[in-house]
Amino acid sequence: MSENFFGKVMLAPMAGEGDYTFRASCKRFGADYLVSEMISAKAICYNDKKTPLLAKIREEEMPIALQIFGCEPEYMARAADFLINESIKAGTPCAAIDINMGCPVNKVVKNGEGSALMKTPDLAGKIVYAVKNVTGNLPVTVKMRLGWDNSSKNVVDVAKIAEENGASAICVHARTREQLYSPGVDISYIAKVKKAVSVPVIGNGDIFNAEDALNMFRETGCDAVAIARGALGNPYIFEEVKAALEGKEYTPPTPRERIEEAIREIEMRIADKGEYTGLRESRVHTAHFTKSLRGSATIRGKLNLIDSFEEVRELLLNYAYSLESENE
Ligand SMILES: Cc1cc2nc3c(=O)[nH]c(=O)nc-3n(C[C@H](O)[C@H](O)[C@H](O)COP(=O)(O)O)c2cc1C
Repeated sequence: MSENFFGKVMLAPMAGEGDYTFRASCKRFGADYLVSEMISAKAICYNDKKTPLLAKIREEEMPIALQIFGCEPEYMARAADFLINESIKAGTPCAAIDINMGCPVNKVVKNGEGSALMKTPDLAGKIVYAVKNVTGNLPVTVKMRLGWDNSSKNVVDVAKIAEENGASAICVHARTREQLYSPGVDISYIAKVKKAVSVPVIGNGDIFNAEDALNMFRETGCDAVAIARGALGNPYIFEEVKAALEGKEYTPPTPRERIEEAIREIEMRIADKGEYTGLRESRVHTAHFTKSLRGSATIRGKLNLIDSFEEVRELLLNYAYSLESENE
């Protein structure tokens, strides 16, 4: 790891897709640091039964931050306190609490949470302050967007407010809430944030290969990069970026290696969530692993109809074999 507690190349949080299995693979392939799926502060405070699984940390994914979302300083602080204590009790302490100020989805922003906090900088500051108040020495980090929309790109101000209230690092996804996930990022704002704050800044958005990552470092002066979609079906991206940073050669995986990794993840997900859920949730990940391979659409269609791991495994191994035979 570099001098930052989160290293240079980290996995960005991904609700729905960034589960334990996915995160552990990213770690295995070189991610310095991980962030959990976002966890509702209110759900924690109201003892929601499903939420603890989102916050569960396994040893092999440490160091990992737990990300919370919400808009009430008191709930956010209580949730952070609870999550830290539970993670310590379990023997797998989280490395930081990350505050979500970037989620664009309607059901979150309509409550003033996620990226809606970019519209209420004072409240955003109070949240960081309240959370920092309970975390003690444990870092609090904040993940934000450029602002709410094109006419309100206030990320520099919000980043400064977060720093003043105790944030130890700021991650910026270089889009506004209005942009959701397209068009392209405007990373000049990450450079502005980097100049405006003295805590480390993490650049995020549209990093799909080593060149994108190098460009983010070069153009913004950021201290680290965070990758989300670029890691889907491609946990190797962390090795690729780190090799580029160290000026080393990188050899991409063969189709067989991709397919065997997809199978390994299915097995892990089944061990974690049972065969029914594990198989279903793995379908989207397997599709990501195979999307660039010949005939993958047919395989995807077949996979969606299979309900047993052994059959899935056989189908995928035969697929790997058929790709190799075609190349002979
Ligand atoms: C499916 C999905 C789920 C996401 N969930 C979260 C989340 O829980 N918390 C968060 O801060 N950002 C979340 N994001 C945003 C990503 O962390 C990241 O900021 C965004 O995708 C841009 O980075 P990328 O271009 O590397 O994907 C999510 C993105 C995707 C695609």
